[in-house]
Amino acid sequence: MSAGRAAVVAGIGSYVPPNLVTNDDLTARLDTSDAWIRSRTGIAERYVVSPGTSTGDLAVEAGLRALKSAGDERVGAVVLATTTPDQPCPGTAPQVAARLGLGQVPAFDVAAVCSGFLYGLASAAGLIAAGVADSVLLIAADAFTTIVNPGDRTTAVIFADGAGAVVLRAGSAAERGAIGPLVLGSDGELSHLITVPAGGSRQRSSDRPVDPEDHYFQMLGRDTYRHAVERMTAASAEAAERAGWSLDDVDRFAAHQANARILDAVSDRLGIPEERRLSNIARVGNTGAASLPLLLAEATADGTLRAGHRVLLTAFGGGLSWGAATVDWPELQTI
Ligand code: UT7
Repeated sequence: MSAGRAAVVAGIGSYVPPNLVTNDDLTARLDTSDAWIRSRTGIAERYVVSPGTSTGDLAVEAGLRALKSAGDERVGAVVLATTTPDQPCPGTAPQVAARLGLGQVPAFDVAAVCSGFLYGLASAAGLIAAGVADSVLLIAADAFTTIVNPGDRTTAVIFADGAGAVVLRAGSAAERGAIGPLVLGSDGELSHLITVPAGGSRQRSSDRPVDPEDHYFQMLGRDTYRHAVERMTAASAEAAERAGWSLDDVDRFAAHQANARILDAVSDRLGIPEERRLSNIARVGNTGAASLPLLLAEATADGTLRAGHRVLLTAFGGGLSWGAATVDWPELQTI
């Protein structure tokens, strides 16, 4: 046991599938409009998988880029945060590790819906602190459109597909890139706000016939919205305080890209001005667990996020689950 070893960000990568879907494409098949989607969610377009493409395929692409960015194509473990694994059993991470040529390293999935990247960070940091691995490839990937009901206008306009990944290596808490204090929480009393009701042991062990709609993702949007704002605001404030930062110290605020109005509400409550908020939701939509690392990778690539920036991260999703963390952003290569 090597207690006190911190997890340090050493590489980053992301991937979105090539199939672009605009709001106008959606209005052709749904009772919605470009104006409604833009004004209520901030989304203009998003990328979706083509038939036959899986979460594992997206994860391999993002993982490859993160490994290249780290300049070291070997890691000691793989963690994959996803809500849309390639199959219910086994986990998708071992196949991703094998496809990346990483051999027989420990590899497992983390199921924390849109908070998956932050729960994955905690898992990866734990593997490093426990001495299980000296470096971990953490991928967050979702082919969310594979579980969204294409006829449900309340979810089909929001969710999209993508993947982001970071390589974490053992280091010291004092160095640039070290993951600061992680705040995580859940509230299973409110699990009904976001569900895929069928396909698990609860439904399979019942003798009731399955409603085909129950195989799809279902969300009580308005209630989810309210909790997302409250939880991301509180978790962000707590993570900053535990890192010894005032909210004025935050150079870049990276929140799960759930809905542009949620992002504005959280940032406004925290008093983080617009120029310090990172956002790509207009171009990629809500990509589930992938949202945060995809945002961080794109912002690093376009120079909006630079070495030395103090970054506050937060996410919220089904479970309910939420989290926040701080990172003093390191110098990273982008591929
Ligand atoms: O990723 C992690 C967790 N997810 C989230 O954090 C998402 C949280 N929720 C949301 O982002 C928003 O609640 C939605 C985008 C899902 C919905 O936006 P809203 O402003 O909360 O709309 P609403 O559900 O209150 O619905 C307002 C109206 C309704 O019509 P009536 O009842 O006022 O006549 C809906 O039927 O908008 C209608 N509506 C739509 N109209 C056109 C709902 N979806 C659509 C649509 N196009 N796509």
